[in-house]
Amino acid sequence: MNRREFMRTSACAAAFGAAVKTNLLSPRPLQAAPGGVPPSDRVRFASIGTGVEGCTILQAALHCPGTEIVAACDLYDGRITAAKEYAHKEIFTTKDYRAILDRSDVDAVLVATPDHWHAKITEDACAAGKDVYCEKPMSHTVGQAFTMVEAMQKHSRIVQVGSQYRSSIVFAKAKEIFEGGALGQVTAVEASLDRNDASGAWVYPIPPDASEKTIDWDRFLGDAPKRPFDPIRFFRWRCFRDYGEGLPGDLFVHRLTGIHYIAGITAPPLRAASMGGLFRWTENREVPDLMWTLFEYPNFRLSLRCNLNNESPALARFYGTKGTLEVKNDALSFTPQNTEPQPEDYSIMGWPVKLRMEYLQQWHSEHPAPLPGQYRLIESAESFAAPRGYDCQVDHMNNFLESVRTRQPSVEDAVYGKNTAIAALMANYSYFNKCLAVWNEGARKIEG
Ligand SMILES: NC(=O)c1ccc[n+]([C@@H]2O[C@H](COP(=O)([O-])OP(=O)(O)OC[C@H]3O[C@@H](n4cnc5c(N)ncnc54)[C@H](O)[C@@H]3O)[C@@H](O)[C@H]2O)c1
Repeated sequence: MNRREFMRTSACAAAFGAAVKTNLLSPRPLQAAPGGVPPSDRVRFASIGTGVEGCTILQAALHCPGTEIVAACDLYDGRITAAKEYAHKEIFTTKDYRAILDRSDVDAVLVATPDHWHAKITEDACAAGKDVYCEKPMSHTVGQAFTMVEAMQKHSRIVQVGSQYRSSIVFAKAKEIFEGGALGQVTAVEASLDRNDASGAWVYPIPPDASEKTIDWDRFLGDAPKRPFDPIRFFRWRCFRDYGEGLPGDLFVHRLTGIHYIAGITAPPLRAASMGGLFRWTENREVPDLMWTLFEYPNFRLSLRCNLNNESPALARFYGTKGTLEVKNDALSFTPQNTEPQPEDYSIMGWPVKLRMEYLQQWHSEHPAPLPGQYRLIESAESFAAPRGYDCQVDHMNNFLESVRTRQPSVEDAVYGKNTAIAALMANYSYFNKCLAVWNEGARKIEG
């Protein structure tokens, strides 16, 4: 076997994962100090919005030491009952979030309402001296993203955006590999998050007791255009542009958060071009069920896809000159490329034999083959996985609680959330206006 064949064989072995051991990643301990959280460091928590995500986060909070659920707010009776059930005790409940902000026994609030309410509640909560865990996408508009940052800074509050992959041990490992330079120059990134069922397409069942008696419809609308009561809009709000941002706001943001973290991105992308369509889930919906966007970042281009018509693993792939990094669900792998110097053997096929032989002779004299026993295996492929049952949402909540206690900025503060929210809004701008979306940082707006 000559050197080139040897290198090729090794690269193939790596590429096909031969004998690649998966290393198990260790979750961070939920509590830095032994002996528990002192009562003075207890964080008293209230949820504003206790639908699917509000209840999920309440559970995540209960897993973190030193938290107490003291109150909950929602606009639908059934969800207030659900919040009490998840809290496992009697808590203060209301349909008016301002009653939560008035309470002196609330240190921090979770904002888990539809997206069109995030900015107003977060800004009011900051002004009331509460720290805020605000669900993703942080804002419904570009303007709101900036006023939310201002509220966080003006009132010196901790604001954390709820895209939990920012606290995932899998993404942290991917960042370590990326920053260690093993990938070489990364110019292309590809990511996707696809689903193939009614729930994934937000076609949720409507509870049988949904009515204007059990739901505060006017408050739900807030600043959105007035409309007669419509339970479909209330329970499937993601399908309507007055309250959500469709696939970019719901799913792109998760991938964008992870990619911004791994690649150290601290600003919105420069440009975005989207294509997509509404093919299958056509009833009661204003947003596409396929969205594919090409984002321009200074050092790489990102192709990001969400498809509600085919299930596949959640993926982010970084293509570098020295290797490929793939994050797939809760695991990641690094596969090196063969970057050993090689003599040119393609274009010289058109040379006369004499020149070809001279070229190869010279190349080999300048690159002597290693002596037997000195062959160096190219870097081998590596793979890592989170342990079964790992939940980055608990880590994300714990990071928030640490920030509340230490007053150190959150790992995913409002500035971070602004950048990913703007990227999602750029994808929609391009799709709905059928043009390239260009971010104008000076004017703080998206232009066509
Ligand atoms: N991080 C994640 O993985 C994740 C997952 C799901 C949802 N989310 C986000 O969480 C938020 C909520 O999503 P969901 O799936 O829980 O929606 P949902 O419809 O299940 O729940 C939203 C709740 O907010 C309540 N609400 C609406 N306006 C309100 C107001 N002004 N005051 C108080 N309550 C109000 C509604 O009554 C409803 O019960 C969204 O921003 C969504 O993007 C994040």
